[in-house]
Amino acid sequence: MVQQTAPLWRQNAQLFFFALLLALQASSSRLAEVAEEEQHCVQDGPRLTCNGLLPAAPNNEVLDVRVNDWPEIIFDPRSLTQTYKNVKNLTIQGDPNTMRRFTHAFPAGLGLQVLNISRLGLVALEPPGLFDNLANTLVVLDASHNQLHQLAAATLSQLTYLKAAYFEGNPWKCGAELSWLLNASLTSRLLDLASWECGPAYQGKSVLPVLQMQRTLLSQCPSRPPYNCSCILTNVVPGMSGVDPGFLIPVITVNCTARGLYRAPPYLPVNTTTLILSKNMISDVRPLAMNPHYRQVKDIFLDNNQIRSIATLEGAEWLTTCRVFSLRNNYLSQIPVYAIDNGLGKNKNLAQLYLGNNPWVCDCMFTPGFQDLLAKYQSVIKDANDIRCALREADENSFQPIRHLSRSLLCQEPKGGLSGLDILNVSLALCILLVLGKLAYDYWSFKTSGRLPWLVAKMP
Ligand SMILES: *[C@@H]1O[C@H](CO)[C@@H](O)[C@H](O)[C@H]1NC(C)=O
Ligand SMILES: *[C@@H]1O[C@H](CO)[C@@H](O)[C@H](O)[C@H]1NC(C)=O
Ligand SMILES: *[C@@H]1O[C@H](CO)[C@@H](O)[C@H](O)[C@H]1NC(C)=O
Ligand SMILES: *[C@@H]1O[C@H](CO)[C@@H](O)[C@H](O)[C@H]1NC(C)=O
Ligand SMILES: *[C@@H]1O[C@H](CO)[C@@H](O)[C@H](O)[C@H]1NC(C)=O
Ligand SMILES: *[C@@H]1O[C@H](CO)[C@@H](O)[C@H](O)[C@H]1NC(C)=O
Ligand SMILES: *[C@@H]1O[C@H](CO)[C@@H](O)[C@H](O)[C@H]1NC(C)=O
Repeated sequence: MVQQTAPLWRQNAQLFFFALLLALQASSSRLAEVAEEEQHCVQDGPRLTCNGLLPAAPNNEVLDVRVNDWPEIIFDPRSLTQTYKNVKNLTIQGDPNTMRRFTHAFPAGLGLQVLNISRLGLVALEPPGLFDNLANTLVVLDASHNQLHQLAAATLSQLTYLKAAYFEGNPWKCGAELSWLLNASLTSRLLDLASWECGPAYQGKSVLPVLQMQRTLLSQCPSRPPYNCSCILTNVVPGMSGVDPGFLIPVITVNCTARGLYRAPPYLPVNTTTLILSKNMISDVRPLAMNPHYRQVKDIFLDNNQIRSIATLEGAEWLTTCRVFSLRNNYLSQIPVYAIDNGLGKNKNLAQLYLGNNPWVCDCMFTPGFQDLLAKYQSVIKDANDIRCALREADENSFQPIRHLSRSLLCQEPKGGLSGLDILNVSLALCILLVLGKLAYDYWSFKTSGRLPWLVAKMP
């Protein structure tokens, strides 16, 4: 038994020793890693270039620190401690597709003159006052090619020594928050401003022209009472080729949905493309024909209004140019078929026409022509199944889809009772019979008795 325990104990000791060795090896390899990290930094005169970490204490000769491959999604400027007070240039870079932000403002006591945070994946220059402690030193700021959407004027306003700031290559959200960029007295230090481009909404379009369009749009929008419309720069498209290639044309939507309007706004922003006037109390469509502001409008939505007639559109230029015309849920019972066809027939752009949910008259006078119109424009009429006869009790056409109505049914004689025309028809037929009968009688009477008819005998 004793002889057996000894080797067991020795075995255990060997195991323990082995484990100790392993642990030592592991910790020594960690030590080696740390050492290697130190070697990630390469000093070349006043320049220190590091990969993946911020050196804890650059020595006094170092004026320019560059960190490549910053691994984290945050950067805490407070890690630039007093040991950085001699550093003039700081560059931090990381995978630009990683979204990064600063956790705190840059601390006081640094002497940074050039800060290069280009291609760092930054989504914002926050928190507020981020650079304020660099106000008396910073000369060059490069935040280009990040993922910045916004830039407040205040972010740079404290930087009295700043001479050059670079921000191109960011997906700017071109909206009211950036409109200060239009004030030239605030942007003299933004040296690459001309090459800033908008992000998703106006992908790749120059920032300044888009901001200018928005400012113009705002000033022309019928946004005040009683109209209360909202105006949106939906898109920006290149102008015709031939002219200046940077020439841009706005695509504008004016939205006056449910504003309680009794009439369409008398003015619209220049080049309004889409006008939404649905859910109001409008009855008059004359502005479409008369008002020069409406000439450029391509798409008009007049659903859920109180329109009883569009006869005033007869001869309107607008019918020959419009793209979408929606009149659903109004009180239309008839339209001037010929005039409308005349206008739409010349229209090469027409894409959608909506006439559904109106109380259409169904009779032999109006409906056959209307059916022809529906058939001719069936490719653009998107709600043909909703184009039905008005709801009427004791009318077999009530609420029937008009395009399927049979014409013989529409134009058949009303059943029961003689109409005035029938009475005339019958009495005329009787008169003809009477005249023919009298003629036959006179002829027979002359042949048999030689007597002339009374009327002929009295004639001089
Ligand atoms: C700091 O950056 C500026 C501008 O990029 C450059 O002219 C200067 O040589 C840099 N200084 C050092 C020490 O690298
Ligand atoms: C910032 O760094 C990038 C990449 O190294 C470089 O292309 C750019 O010129 C630098 N910006 C400034 C202002 O020196
Ligand atoms: C431009 O900015 C300056 C300085 O803030 C201001 O005084 C001026 O009124 C602004 N101009 C316009 C047109 O907004
Ligand atoms: C128009 O405005 C109404 C409410 O004001 C809103 O519900 C609707 O989505 C807007 N339409 C468009 C196309 O912006
Ligand atoms: C239009 O706006 C004014 C002021 O903002 C408001 O008092 C009014 O109720 C609005 N009218 C409608 C129909 O929304
Ligand atoms: C409006 O559009 C026309 C072309 O469709 C263009 O020539 C004109 O410059 C535009 N006006 C504005 C103010 O954008
Ligand atoms: C008149 O009667 C004839 C013969 O019955 C018929 O063919 C014709 O359609 C009728 N005309 C009218 C206007 O009712």
